[in-house]
This record gives sequence, C-alpha cells and structure tokens, in this order.
Amino acid sequence: MSRIIMGVESSCDETGIGLVRLHDDGTVELLADEVASSVEQHARFGGVVPEVASRAHLEAMVPTTRRAFTTAGLEMSDVDAIAVTAGPGLAGALLVGVSAAKAYAAALGVPLYGVNHLAGHIAVDTLQHGPLPSPCLALLVSGGHTQLLRVDDIAGKITEIGSTVDDAAGEAYDKVARLLGLPYPGGPPIDKAAKAGDPQAIAFPRGMTGPRDAKFDFSFSGLKTAVARWVEGAQARGEEIPVADVAASFQEAVADVLTAKAVRAATESGIGTLVISGGVAANSRLSSLAAQRCAEAGIELRVPRPRLCTDNGAMIAALGAHVVAAGCAPSSLDLSANPALPV
Ligand code: KG4
Ligand code: ZN
Repeated sequence: MSRIIMGVESSCDETGIGLVRLHDDGTVELLADEVASSVEQHARFGGVVPEVASRAHLEAMVPTTRRAFTTAGLEMSDVDAIAVTAGPGLAGALLVGVSAAKAYAAALGVPLYGVNHLAGHIAVDTLQHGPLPSPCLALLVSGGHTQLLRVDDIAGKITEIGSTVDDAAGEAYDKVARLLGLPYPGGPPIDKAAKAGDPQAIAFPRGMTGPRDAKFDFSFSGLKTAVARWVEGAQARGEEIPVADVAASFQEAVADVLTAKAVRAATESGIGTLVISGGVAANSRLSSLAAQRCAEAGIELRVPRPRLCTDNGAMIAALGAHVVAAGCAPSSLDLSANPALPV
C-alpha cells in the first residue's frame, strides 16, 4: 500500500509544503509543491533578514499547508508521515517549521522525521530522474551552501568531501550583483546580463585551484574582491562599467571552478553520476559547462528543474519518503531545530 509523506521546509526565506506518494517499489511521486517566499521583503536589504523571515514563515505556514492539500486533492488525514527540515538554516526560521510539523504530527498521530536540508536538495532529484545510483556525487550550490558530497545512501550515508571556506556560490552572485547595481537575488540578473557579454573579457581569479589548496574546497571571496577592485578601477578612470562583460567573466570563473572540481572529484572517486542542486544549479553557464565536462569524462549529469533546485517542501517530502522507505526510526516530539546540523 502506498504512503503519503508531507514535507515541511522553513530553513531560510521559503515556506514550503510538499506532498509525495511513496510507492511500494520505493519510487516517489510528486503530488504537491507549494512555496511562499519572503524574498521580496529582503530585497531592499540585499540579503535575508532572519527576523523578517521568521515572521513570514509564521504567516505563511497554515495557508501554504492548505494550498498543498488542495492541489493534491488530499485531506490531512491521508498523511502517513511528516518530514521537516531540522537544519541547517536560520534558527528562528527553522523553529517555525519544526513547531508546525510537530503540531501536525501530534494532531494526526503520525510519525515525525527531522531531516537535513542539504540531503533534501539531493533527494529532490529522485522526483524527476528516479532512484539515485549508489554511490553518486552531489554538488550543492545555493545562497547558503557550496559543498561536494559523496552520497552512498540518501537516507543515511552522505559524506562531505569539499566545501567553501568563505562565501557560498550564490552569496558571491548576490554580492557581485550588488556591485553591478543589479537587483537581489543576484543570480538571475547576472545570468541574464552575461548572455550579452564576453566570458573571456576579464581574467578573474579561480579560487583554491593552486597546487597547495585543498583539492575539493572552494573559495569565492577573492573572486568577489577582484570584481570589486576591477569595478572601482574602471569607475576611478571615469569609464562606464561593461556590466555584461563583468557578469559573463565572473560567471565563467564560478562555473569553471565548480565544474572542474566536481568532475575531478567524481573521476578520482570512480563515481559515475553527478547531481547538481541548489539555487545556483539554475545557472545557464554552470549547467552547460557541467554538461560538456561530464560528457567528456563519461559522467552522467543530473540537474533537477529550477523549481526543484531552489528551496521547497517537495525536497523534504522526497527525503522523508526515502527515510521512511529505509525503515529509519522517527524523531521524538521533543525534536528541536539545529541551525548547524551537519550532513
Ligand atoms: O537554494 P536557494 O533558493 O536558497 C538557498 O538555500 O540559499 O538558492 C538561492 C541562491 C541565490 O543566491 C541566488 O542568487 C542563486 O541561488 N541563483 C542563481 C540563479 N538563480 C538563483 N545563481 C546563479 N544563476 C542563476 N540563474
Ligand atoms: Zn537550500
């Protein structure tokens, strides 16, 4: 008998409720994916304001839950288990989701599973491309995270093999967009501006690619500083900033480093599948360069559609389904949020 799993996400600025059906053969089917975003309330600050995010989650939680059940044509009493993001993320924001999920689980008398947001970003791929091969490699690139993860079991065994030592890739996009006078979040406008620019126009640095740097770690703060210096220099000379060329050259540097390290990690570990997820996975140059380099290296590339890559509840429901299918023990009702939850 198939089971209905509900996912609750509130780690950053998206309130997400997802509903999936876990079939007896272990496949997971997406039924609803409702997201309420507070991104517009943060735009004028150039980044997420934690207090604003928490309040927005409180306001959006119940209406978003209602919408998800309407979309799926289900009643809350149809739910067999609830998964919620327990971390990592913003403490206050996480607490809203964890509290709501506990209340739902207690009221419905169903098991509650506290799960990891980063694992959710990987698990979401199974909604589009089916079961993950084991092992596979995941490149997780968002506003808060930039990590290379080896996935032996999505419900249990995930190992970090590299991460950013400073800014996340999406954070670098957001900061560079600000320097160029483009709106927040910076990824989409830079991606768009870059289409009219020359990616070779400016040779921006490729962080952490020296012989003595950790092989699979990333650094983007030097790149951001290099863009700032370049823009300041042009301004000091009274030149107009060639926004398209700066955007394209910056984007090329980010895509180059991310794909080179991911492909190298997969090749050296003998892993045949790379999943790229998180908000930055929507970047057009990252996906085209990854496709080219994976093809050259004989690696299967899986990139979920953009809607699944950004934060949502379906990713948490999908992960919950895999955790339920694996027979993992549920969390107790004193589950608490852990802003620094390791993968
Ligand atoms: O996964 P996500 O929605 O939220 C976090 O968990 O952070 O990722 C948001 C990040 C933002 O930094 C945004 O600028 C970036 O993803 N982003 C992009 C693109 N679309 C969104 N970065 C580069 N190119 C894009 N097309
Ligand atoms: Zn995320």
